[in-house]
Amino acid sequence: MRVALVAAEVAPFAKAGGLADVIGALPKALANLGVEVAVFAPRYRSVPADLPEQTRLSVRLGTSSLEVRILQGFLPRSAVPVYFLDQPHLFDRPGIYGEGDQDYPDNLRRFALLCRAAVEATQALAWFPDIFHVHDWHTALLPLFLDRAKIPARIVLTVHNLAFQGWFPLGEWQELGLPEEKLLLLGEGAWRCALRAGILAADALTTVSPSYAQEILADGLGLDDVLRAKASVLFGILNGIDVEEWDPQHDPHLWAPYSAEDLQGKAQNREALLRELGLSGEGPVVAMVGRLTEQKGLDLVLAGLSRMLSLGITLVILGTGEARYAQALKAEEERWPARLRVLLEYSELWAHRFMAGADFLLMPSRFEPCGLTQLYALRYGTIPIVRATGGLRDTVRDVKEGGNGFVFGDYSAEAMLETLSRAVQLWRDEPQTLGELRQRAMNEDHSWARSAQEYLRVYHYVLSR
Ligand code: ADP
Ligand code: GLC
Repeated sequence: MRVALVAAEVAPFAKAGGLADVIGALPKALANLGVEVAVFAPRYRSVPADLPEQTRLSVRLGTSSLEVRILQGFLPRSAVPVYFLDQPHLFDRPGIYGEGDQDYPDNLRRFALLCRAAVEATQALAWFPDIFHVHDWHTALLPLFLDRAKIPARIVLTVHNLAFQGWFPLGEWQELGLPEEKLLLLGEGAWRCALRAGILAADALTTVSPSYAQEILADGLGLDDVLRAKASVLFGILNGIDVEEWDPQHDPHLWAPYSAEDLQGKAQNREALLRELGLSGEGPVVAMVGRLTEQKGLDLVLAGLSRMLSLGITLVILGTGEARYAQALKAEEERWPARLRVLLEYSELWAHRFMAGADFLLMPSRFEPCGLTQLYALRYGTIPIVRATGGLRDTVRDVKEGGNGFVFGDYSAEAMLETLSRAVQLWRDEPQTLGELRQRAMNEDHSWARSAQEYLRVYHYVLSR
């Protein structure tokens, strides 16, 4: 079975969030199951330009033709090829989707080119996929460029985040030179939606946790009709994590390695983290790592911050994103210099160090399709404190029920604080129990192997229909 994964991000080459992690890891797990898999993604500025060129294409978009070079790399520690589509005018830029808070104005054109070029690249390489597995709106528009009479491949679409749908004015769509019947898939009106077309055209849909699959059927954020029409072919498959990339025993970013059997190194990482960040470190260290957006629950954190810190915790935050959150957090940091540290940067190094050095990870998301950081936290023995939504609900169970973390339901600062104070209490009063909890968390299996099996089942299903 041949599967082409087409996506806007792929770790470690180009990453804005969890999508990259998935595209960097799932193909390796699929290859282990005997699937012949290749990744197709843009060559952004962060990707080396001197990779070997396999072929060149002239790709038509409306009235213009764009030259695209197909460069070949590999996912690290694997034989999975990544074909980078090199079109410098569209992709050789500092950002993936934009810069600062601003999206690039030609994003429709950029990702339309990715889709059309990916399809044409498979033909030019004489590597004919049985399935195009596309991800989020950026590649949901691939079926618009696939003539299935000529290329009889199936389409699987994974929705990583329904909040991003790819709406563009009709005029921009018309410039892509699509036939009338394809334009109909985009909906009606002056603005048309990439994700709608993908959902309609896909032979199967997946999303990244069973709970999120239920949630988007209950509230489809405007795409309710097409999602419900496809409910019988919508599968919720939990993400896994790359357990080699995230391995506290062999993590080059850490100050000291450690394992479930020997947690001493974790204490050393905690001390070093506090020292490097200039924090006094009384009480438990609570970390947050992620995009500074509404999704991640930053409103709760800002509303409850003084009360949180008054519980005696030290809070460390690593993130980039919306200026309003960045500024508010920096202002708070000035008020609480000994207890709060905010790093406004994108840093793999610090992400790994936060996971190792913290006692708890806080993820009070408003919604969360899957979430990977809580899985990294578990693997590093850092106990997650999460709101019960989407993938957080499916991966974290409360200690009250014999689970692996702390869970609250209401999206409110009060509910978050109540739960956080239970965590602080455990840290203060029951270090032995906490140690055992860490060990249990570290021994959980969140590797990709199981989820890859489920994707394989979906692939077999679409091929059998
Ligand atoms: P989302 O995809 O919604 O951003 P996930 O939890 O699925 O959320 O994935 C986020 C990924 O991005 C994780 O690998 C996380 O470590 C990483 N990440 C987010 N922000 C940063 C940052 N500022 N520095 C380093 N890594 C980050
Ligand atoms: C999206 C979601 C996140 C998920 C990631 C990878 O960015 O916000 O919850 O883990 O995709 O699927």
